Amino acid sequence: MFSKLIIYLKIIHSMTITIVGSGRVGASVALNCGLRELDDILLLDVIEGLPQGEAMDINHQLSENGIDSRVKGSTSYEDMVNSDFVVLVAGLGRKPGMTRMDLLNKNANIVKDVSNKISKHANDATVIVVTNPLDPMTYLALKTTGFKKNNVFGMGGMLDLARFKSFIHDITGSSRKSIQAMVISEHGENMLPLIRFSSIGGIPLNEFLSNEQSQEIFERTKKVAAEVIALKGATVYAPGNAVATMIESMKKNKKQVIPVSAYLEGEYGISDLCIGVPVILGSNGIEKIIELQLNEYERKIFDLGVTSVKEGIKFMQSEIK
Ligand code: LAC
Repeated sequence: MFSKLIIYLKIIHSMTITIVGSGRVGASVALNCGLRELDDILLLDVIEGLPQGEAMDINHQLSENGIDSRVKGSTSYEDMVNSDFVVLVAGLGRKPGMTRMDLLNKNANIVKDVSNKISKHANDATVIVVTNPLDPMTYLALKTTGFKKNNVFGMGGMLDLARFKSFIHDITGSSRKSIQAMVISEHGENMLPLIRFSSIGGIPLNEFLSNEQSQEIFERTKKVAAEVIALKGATVYAPGNAVATMIESMKKNKKQVIPVSAYLEGEYGISDLCIGVPVILGSNGIEKIIELQLNEYERKIFDLGVTSVKEGIKFMQSEIK
């Protein structure tokens, strides 16, 4: 009887958005989800005290804003029971001078372990992977959980397009509200900011930029995360916001078109790989993968991303225990 009561209490008190990893990015995800009043939130970590302290601090901010979303901190994976969303942030972040792919060895076993726990405790959840290298880690989480491919994907392009928008604003002076931007391919050295599929007020971006300006913001978008890491040690606010936007599109069935690291089965002529492509995000997770007609240059960069992710996955499979 007592155990049934415990299970009942866990169910009625389960949090619907779980964030595994309560470091700076995980806490930023929790705050951004809380400020949007998306639902109650569970912050998990292996470090005793860290998730609890972050939860308290965020609850104080939400309280003053009259927001009733509650944040709970815990070191117990059992608390993620019945989560609708699990954000996988656990793992090491880049140090200055490192590429995201340099984290492959260190993070693969962490992501595998956490993915096993997610499939055990939250087997109806949609999983959003943030841990780098994003695309191989997303592939690992999908294969380890055994969840459907529309319910396991990575947050990468949403963050890259935020940076792309920032540079478009800087160079054109146009309102950030008028800017639509798209970034696909690897969330890494071979990301592909798409000038042709970006616009200001619906007017194609290439009507505002010279070829030199386009190339400048293309390169800056690829490199700016490393610049932030060199200056402040990590990227924090923009990743947290990007994840919250993705969850909001699903929770409110907004069906936004957002680039995510998705598992491909023939789309773009690619199979058995996770890489950044535009999708429709709604209440069923990935509801449609959108295939863009890439030109020769765009396809060349996209294929470099495919090769990089394939090599990462191959190396990871030879390494993980
Ligand atoms: C970045 C990390 C999250 O791009 O990959 O900031």
